Amino acid sequence: TAAEKGGWSSFMAKEISEEPEAVANTILGRVHDGQVVIPELDGLDELFAGISRIVIVGAGTAAYSAFVGKYAIEQWARIPVEVELAHEFRYRDPLVGPDVLVISISQSGETMDTLMAVKEATRLGAKTLSICNTQGATIPRESDAVVYLHAGPEVAVASTKAFVAQITGLYLFALHVARIRGTVTPELQADAIQELADLPDKIRWILENEQERIEQLAHWMADTRSVLFLGRHVGYPIALEGALKLKEISYIHAEGFAAGELKHGPIALVEPGLPVFVVVPSPSGAPVLHAKVVSNIQEIRARGARVIAIAEAGDAAVLPHADEVLRIPLAGPLFEPILAVVPLHIFAMGLANAKGLDVDQPRNLAKSVTVE
Ligand code: G6P
Repeated sequence: TAAEKGGWSSFMAKEISEEPEAVANTILGRVHDGQVVIPELDGLDELFAGISRIVIVGAGTAAYSAFVGKYAIEQWARIPVEVELAHEFRYRDPLVGPDVLVISISQSGETMDTLMAVKEATRLGAKTLSICNTQGATIPRESDAVVYLHAGPEVAVASTKAFVAQITGLYLFALHVARIRGTVTPELQADAIQELADLPDKIRWILENEQERIEQLAHWMADTRSVLFLGRHVGYPIALEGALKLKEISYIHAEGFAAGELKHGPIALVEPGLPVFVVVPSPSGAPVLHAKVVSNIQEIRARGARVIAIAEAGDAAVLPHADEVLRIPLAGPLFEPILAVVPLHIFAMGLANAKGLDVDQPRNLAKSVTVE
């Protein structure tokens, strides 16, 4: 009802506006004396010290947040991480056992594919941890441990605020385990905590300064038939998420690619006028990746692509090469994805609105898929 939407035109609009709080509430109560301590994981230090591998399973948007989490867990906790779609994991006789932690990510905690993967992991003797947004759901009940996100109920079928909360939850988990394993210095731990704490205000900055312009852009692009999304490193799963969201609610063909893979195939798709969103790494935080992505932009632009860059405010190097620049505040390289995804969520919603579609209830999709 209109009252539940709190004055917003859709649940999706409301939930995007709640992305800052979703991140802030997930952090709340999990930082003590300058270190990440997740109270729910109390008593599991020995487990985390002993595991040799982590497998993260999920479906849809949750699988993309898992993919972002992999970079942080490997970098901070120095544990090898694999990410696998839950339905693929379940039926391929996966190599997991007691030294493996299987983390499931699920907003609803009811996705059957993910639940079956967790049960299979348990059957094989692995330890299971659920990262979930819904208190008391089936997946957390079937898992050895659970870290709840506190993004609040998500109603729109397309996941938005849960996605940023999932990445935040995975980062907190990575820092918690890194503390136990002694793989990050107190300074690095403090820096990372500061970066996380700064995210809500930075997301607000995007909503306040860029939302209108992004919606306008989406409006102009209402007739678009196909859109590509490119990213590198943590920007790669963000490109995948941007493409998924556009498919889900605006029914436009969209594909996400790793920017480095462009020359190995996808560049053949580029023709004059094709809109391509590019997640640009920070010029100061990741100069090498930044230069590589700018050169990717030049390659597609030379072939007539219409480049929409998502770039750090102040990144002057990207300006001459992009048709549009959507700005995000400066953040460390690992924290950029939580910002870069916000314009993509707004864009997908704006385009679906421009086409007059029901953004909350897209055709053929369910919020929670409880069948295999
Ligand atoms: C469905 C929804 C997606 C969601 C996926 C996983 O397919 O349409 O938006 O990302 O399920 O849902 P979960 O609740 O497990 O995160």
